[in-house]
Amino acid sequence: MPAIVLVGAQWGDEGKGKATDLLGSDVDFVVKFNGGNNAGHTIVIEKDGVREKYALHLLPSGILTPTCTPVIGNGVVVDLAVLFEEIDGLEARGVDTSRLLVSASAHVIAPYNRVLDKVTERFLGSRKIGTTGRGIGPTYADKMSRNGIRVQDLFDEKILRQKVEAALAFKNQVLAKIYNRRAVGVDEVMGELLGYVERLRPMVADTSLVLERALDEGKTVLLEAGQATLLDVDHGTYPFVTSSNATAGGACTGSGIPPTRVDRVIAILKAYSTRVGEGPFPTELFDANGEFLRKTGAEYGTTTGRPRRCGWVDTVVGRYSTRINGVTDFVVTKLDVLTGLEKVPVCVAYEVDGVRHDEMPVNQTDFHHAKPVYEELDGWWEDISKCRTFEELPAAAQAYVLRLEELIGARVSAVGVGPGRDEIISRHSLLGD
Ligand code: GDP
Ligand code: IMO
Ligand code: MG
Repeated sequence: MPAIVLVGAQWGDEGKGKATDLLGSDVDFVVKFNGGNNAGHTIVIEKDGVREKYALHLLPSGILTPTCTPVIGNGVVVDLAVLFEEIDGLEARGVDTSRLLVSASAHVIAPYNRVLDKVTERFLGSRKIGTTGRGIGPTYADKMSRNGIRVQDLFDEKILRQKVEAALAFKNQVLAKIYNRRAVGVDEVMGELLGYVERLRPMVADTSLVLERALDEGKTVLLEAGQATLLDVDHGTYPFVTSSNATAGGACTGSGIPPTRVDRVIAILKAYSTRVGEGPFPTELFDANGEFLRKTGAEYGTTTGRPRRCGWVDTVVGRYSTRINGVTDFVVTKLDVLTGLEKVPVCVAYEVDGVRHDEMPVNQTDFHHAKPVYEELDGWWEDISKCRTFEELPAAAQAYVLRLEELIGARVSAVGVGPGRDEIISRHSLLGD
C-alpha cells in the first residue's frame, strides 16, 4: 500500500486528530512530520458506553490505536519534557505507548528557545504573531541557521556540550543585552536534556528507513500534518504562520518518504472557519453569528485555551488548499455545528479594492484587504448527529456539502456530524477505492 498524507485545509483545528484516529485501525504507521507541541488534537473515544476525551500535542494521533506504530518524523521539533509528560499521561490511562519511534534527526526544543519565543512576542507588542509560546519558531530558526540540536546529539555528551555552548554564546547576548533577561547556563541546559537520554534511547530510530521498508512490505503509512495550509511557512499568510511546512510537500521532507510513494492526499476542512493568533482572516465574524459558532463548536484552543476567531467557510481558501496540496479527498468536519441557522453564507470569492479575485491573492497586502463575496445557502434545523449516510442528511445540508465540493474542486469523501469516533458519514473510502 502507498503512503497517504493528511493535512489541514484552513488555519488549523479542523479535526485532523479525529480523522487520523478514524483511519488508525486501517493504517500500520502514523507519522507526525512537522511542528511540535504547538499542535492540539482532541480525540473523543467511546469506551464501554463512556465518552473519553484525549488531548494530544506532540504525539501522533495514531498512538491511540493499538495496531498502529506512531512515528515522530525528522521534520518535527521535540520538547522532551512534553514528550514524556504526554507518554506518562497516556500510560496512566491505560494506553500502550511502547511502539513509539522518534527520528534521530528530529530537532529538540532547548529551554532557551522557549524563553526566546515568549520574550520575542512581548518585544513585538502589537506586531506579535500570537504564537503558542512553545519555542517552535526559534527552534526551526536554529535548524535553518545550522545551530540546532538534534535527537542524535543527545547521545554524544561532548558534541552536545559544544553545540549548547555555541548556541548560548550568541543567545545569551540577545537575552541579556536586548531583552534584559538573565543568561541561561550551559549546565542548566545540559542537565535538562541529558535527564531524558536513557528513556529516549530505545525509541530512537532511522525512521525514514523504517518507513521505506514498511512501504516495501505493503504496509500503509499515514503522514499526519500539524497546523494547516494557511499556517505553512511558505504557502500560508506569512508572517502570521508557524515555522514549518504543514502542506503535503512537507510530508516528504519531514518524514524522509519520497514524493513518488505518496498516492493520496486527504485534507480536513471545517464546515466554517477558525483561526487562533494574529493574521488576516477575510470571513471573520465579530457579531452574534461568530459567537454562535464559537459556543456551538466549542472553539477554544486545545493548546493555549484561547478563544478561536470564527467565521464562515471560505472556498477560496479551500480551492487554494486543493491546489497547493494536490488534494484527492476532503473530509468536511463539524457540519453539525451549522444546524439551526436560517441561511449559511459561503465565501466564493474576494473583492479587493473593487476587483474580484476568484483565487488567493498572491500579494499579502491584498489578502489583508480582501472582502468576502458570499453566496447564501439555505440552513437546516434537524439534528444531524445521528445521520450515518449522506442521504439521511436534510436536503439543505446535502446541498451545502455538494456546493462546497463544487467550489473547492475535489470530492468530499466524508462528513463529520459530531466529535465522536462514529459520528461520521462516509461517502468514499479514504484509503482508495
Ligand atoms: P486538529 O488540531 O485539527 O486535530 O483539531 P482540534 O482537535 O484542535 O479541534 C477540532 C475539535 O472538533 C475537537 O474538539 C474535535 O473533538 C471536534 N470535532 C472533530 N470533528 C467534529 C465534528 O464533525 N463535529 C463536532 N461537533 N466536533 C468535531
Ligand atoms: P493544530 O495542529 C491552530 C498558530 C498560533 C500562531 C501561529 C504561530 O492543532 O491545528 P507557533 O507557536 O506555531 O510559532 O505559532 O500558528 N498555530 C496554530 N493554530 N492550530 C494549530 O495546530 C496551531 N499551531 C500553531 O496560534 O498564530
Ligand atoms: Mg488543534
